[in-house]
Amino acid sequence: MLRIEDLHVEVDGREVLSGVDLEVPAGHTCVLFGPNGSGKSTLLHTIMGFGQYEVTKGRILFLGRDVTHLPIHERARMGMGIMLQRPPNIVGLRLNDLVVAAGDGHLDTEETAKALNMDRFLERDINVGFSGGEIKRSELLQLSMQEPCFFLLDEPESGVDMESIDLVGRKIHSMLYDKKGCGWEKGDRSKSALVITHTGKVLDYIDADCAYVIRGGRIMCSGRPRDILRDIQERGYGECIKCRMVKL
Ligand SMILES: Nc1ncnc2c1ncn2[C@@H]1O[C@H](COP(=O)(O)OP(=O)(O)O)[C@@H](O)[C@H]1O
Ligand SMILES: [Mg+2]
Repeated sequence: MLRIEDLHVEVDGREVLSGVDLEVPAGHTCVLFGPNGSGKSTLLHTIMGFGQYEVTKGRILFLGRDVTHLPIHERARMGMGIMLQRPPNIVGLRLNDLVVAAGDGHLDTEETAKALNMDRFLERDINVGFSGGEIKRSELLQLSMQEPCFFLLDEPESGVDMESIDLVGRKIHSMLYDKKGCGWEKGDRSKSALVITHTGKVLDYIDADCAYVIRGGRIMCSGRPRDILRDIQERGYGECIKCRMVKL
């Protein structure tokens, strides 16, 4: 599905990713752990194709095609979708207009929004005055209308209160297991994902297959998500990366 080879990325003239290798097979969900500032969001933004990230070396293969220099809208057309950690406010653009534009018309906007408790927000400017949890649900609403085959989720649970976390978690689960397939399946799951998480809370909902740890712009180790999470919780990132050099 996604293969990243020796990816080096500069932001603002500074190298932030220094040789990332990572793979998400079709139908798999992989999680990405890493301390603050390690390059997690940079990696997701670069995979999606945001402009300010300059790939200086390496490549990104998506569905067997080299997309390293493909514009963002073409990656979206190929089936890539992203949920941002901190999406911008867009004054003058109603959430409803973006959500309608994201879909192909077969999903009911009102109904989809209702399922996320977002129907009251459709007439409001995107993210303007939204709380942390409302921003995440707004991102999920846009993604569920877009119906990508490959999800990039950047800390979907951060800023979400205890009550809404179950709603967000179950929505992510249902998007990954949606029956409208993408031409491949792994068990019941038709979609693939790369999910950044700090807390590991999202693991209760996504049944992840693999985990990577990134530190200082490099992948330090990979392995089973629960094992890696436990190592990080018990020993911190420094120790975790020494003890688990597992090759997937
Ligand atoms: N647009 C940008 N301009 C300058 N520096 C950036 C930009 N985006 C990210 N960085 C820097 O790159 C490093 C990695 O950031 P980021 O990928 O957001 O980390 P993470 O998501 O792991 O917390 C940080 O030091 C951050 O300040
Ligand atoms: Mg981040």
